[in-house]
Amino acid sequence: MDFSNSAFKDGLMTGKVVFVAGGTSGINLGIAKRFASLGAKLAVVGRNPEKAQNAAKEIGPDAIGLSADVRDYAAIRGALEEVAAKLGPLDIVVSGAAGNFLAPAAAMSANAFRTVVDIDLNGTFNVFRACYDLLNKPGASLIAITAGQAVNASPLQAHACAAKAGINHLIRVLAMEWGPEVRVNGISPGPIEGTEGMARLAPSDDTREAYYARIPMRRWGEIGEVAEAAVFLSSPSAVYVTGTVLDVDGGSQLGDASKNDVEKGMA
Ligand code: NAP
Ligand code: COA
Repeated sequence: MDFSNSAFKDGLMTGKVVFVAGGTSGINLGIAKRFASLGAKLAVVGRNPEKAQNAAKEIGPDAIGLSADVRDYAAIRGALEEVAAKLGPLDIVVSGAAGNFLAPAAAMSANAFRTVVDIDLNGTFNVFRACYDLLNKPGASLIAITAGQAVNASPLQAHACAAKAGINHLIRVLAMEWGPEVRVNGISPGPIEGTEGMARLAPSDDTREAYYARIPMRRWGEIGEVAEAAVFLSSPSAVYVTGTVLDVDGGSQLGDASKNDVEKGMA
């Protein structure tokens, strides 16, 4: 994405230390790259060490790429301690690791359900709990990456719906407990083109077309558009914003905008 028209100016994040859990691909890597382009010092974490190293190289020469599973509290704590020791107290922590696949609840194993809840919800608790005493307080910004499934029931995603709903409520509780020193918010992306999430949840042309027609903004979202929201939530412009979830979804959780086309004579 071309950021030349962005409201955020070069150097906005100079000196800030940013840790992105699940930041080794897709939307979260895009968030990491955007913070780095604004001057921040970056660390990203994923399970695959080679992928983490490659992501760090893509972000910039000084970025750190580490391997840790967010389901493993000791491992994620170790990664956070290593980053704080190398880069300093953490100003911004993004928790975006997630797993998802389409499966009917009646055929989903208990382990399949548990696995997604463990990565998304328990993983977010682990990341935020483990970073708390390493944060640069006051002023630290925590961001959880959630999804529209948190508020809208989606068939074949009992696991992700439950997990993301849990994240939305966890955000609110932590905002109450950790204010005023720490702000805790969420971002709920819509369908973002070219991502693993889209490939898994809209795997065929038919599902893509049906999904596309419903979006009020009449286009897929871009990774950079989610990254801009993360910068906003961590910027001086958002110092009174906490406990909220910012939808960056072209309005796609509002309902079916294609019904509008019938009335406008477009369909
Ligand atoms: P993605 O490319 O698959 O990114 C997932 C990241 O998390 C990768 O870096 C992955 O690296 C890491 N990860 C997965 N499991 C992990 C674990 N147990 N421990 C540590 N790291 C782990 O996905 P994406 O489509 O960009 O989605 C990113 C976020 O946006 C997710 O929270 C997703 O729910 C949310 N979202 C996406 C969309 C969309 O359109 N794509 C829409 C709404 C919400 P490793 O595989 O190496 O671990
Ligand atoms: N349908 C039904 N069940 C599935 C499944 C599918 N497509 N994929 C995995 N499962 C089940 C497995 O069978 C297993 O259950 P079982 O032990 O009862 O057989 C359970 O889920 C765990 O699978 P496993 O492969 O051991 O988990 P993992 O920890 O290695 O990987 C996943 C986690 C399954 C979420 C994997 O898809 C992943 O790593 N995803 C990360 C990337 C991603 O999803 N990105 C998009 C984000 S929106």
